[in-house]
Amino acid sequence: MKKKFLSVLLAGAMLFTAAVGCAKKKDETKSEDTKQEESQKTGEKTLIGVSMPTKSLQRWNQDGDNMKQQLEAAGYEVELQYADDKVDQQLNQIETMINNGCKVLVIAAINGDSLGTVLATAKEKNIPVIAYDRLIMNSDAVTYYATFDNYMVGTIQGNYIKDQLKLDSTDGPYNIEIFTGDPADNNANFFYSGAMDVLNPYIESGKLVVKSGQKDFKDVATAGWKTENAQNRMDAIISSNYADGTQLDAVLCSNDSTALGVENSLAANYNGKYPIITGQDCDVDNVKNMLAGKQSMSVFKDTRDLAKQVVEMVKAISEGKEAPINNTKDYDNGTGIIPSYLCTPVFADANNYKEILIDSGYYTEDKLK
Ligand code: BGC
Repeated sequence: MKKKFLSVLLAGAMLFTAAVGCAKKKDETKSEDTKQEESQKTGEKTLIGVSMPTKSLQRWNQDGDNMKQQLEAAGYEVELQYADDKVDQQLNQIETMINNGCKVLVIAAINGDSLGTVLATAKEKNIPVIAYDRLIMNSDAVTYYATFDNYMVGTIQGNYIKDQLKLDSTDGPYNIEIFTGDPADNNANFFYSGAMDVLNPYIESGKLVVKSGQKDFKDVATAGWKTENAQNRMDAIISSNYADGTQLDAVLCSNDSTALGVENSLAANYNGKYPIITGQDCDVDNVKNMLAGKQSMSVFKDTRDLAKQVVEMVKAISEGKEAPINNTKDYDNGTGIIPSYLCTPVFADANNYKEILIDSGYYTEDKLK
């Protein structure tokens, strides 16, 4: 691991040596601020490529906006692209970023396994790559990874269900159904394992019952994280298992887009007592549902914090320094462990949303009406 980390740093340092070349020697005595001011005056800003998966989910729009705003505030120029959830489009956009002279690439991959070729080109050109939120798999071009603690996202959701159903102090049994994310997104495995590590003992002891029988990752994954796919699966689950008035007590949903599908399906097909439903991202529609009693919680990942860490990584790379990281064991992308920074997720629900979402300045109250 250490070897990989060192080579990664070396690659980053080499890039910037190559990028700023001899100019750097002359500049060595000047502070970074002075250098940045000077390059701004001469209009020579360093170009950073930011590739986001889609505009169709609220969170990626926020991520893109935060990244652009914070990188620009730090004196960089930004090429920001969204790929409409189409792998080929993302590949083309990254290729263009390389051709346009981007010096660092920040990428939230649509499919973690699909970027090998274009990233090989980035590596050839000594362009460091930061995997943003989602780990890019099976490519040795990835320099750093910045994300939230994805396993913790899952344990927060699992523990929320455990606490709300009082699994340790009541007899049950309780009926639960499970929805996770896209199998091509490495995060989905972490969310699922974190939650299932909490819930599995109760499923094994019979206190939690998955009436549909669908509990393995492959059976509960949601292609493309799409609301519509989750909704269709929930429709089928309700009609086979809960149409006769059988009570559904909880639905583990790995994120808000899948939770929304489950909520739409319940509204159309289910008449029993409303179940506990988890989510992630605190998207506006889901927070509204939370306040209306249709979703119990959502894991809040403050994308401003993630952007801030990534800007720190970009700065460190450009100065040939080590970026701040806090995890060197959990994220192996198939070519070795990628040095990572994990931000901490928390949950929001109807009781604490004011403090978590409003007081923090993430949303204004009128946005949630
Ligand atoms: C992100 C989640 C998001 C999901 C769907 C995951 O990789 O970590 O925050 O809800 O993708 O876009």
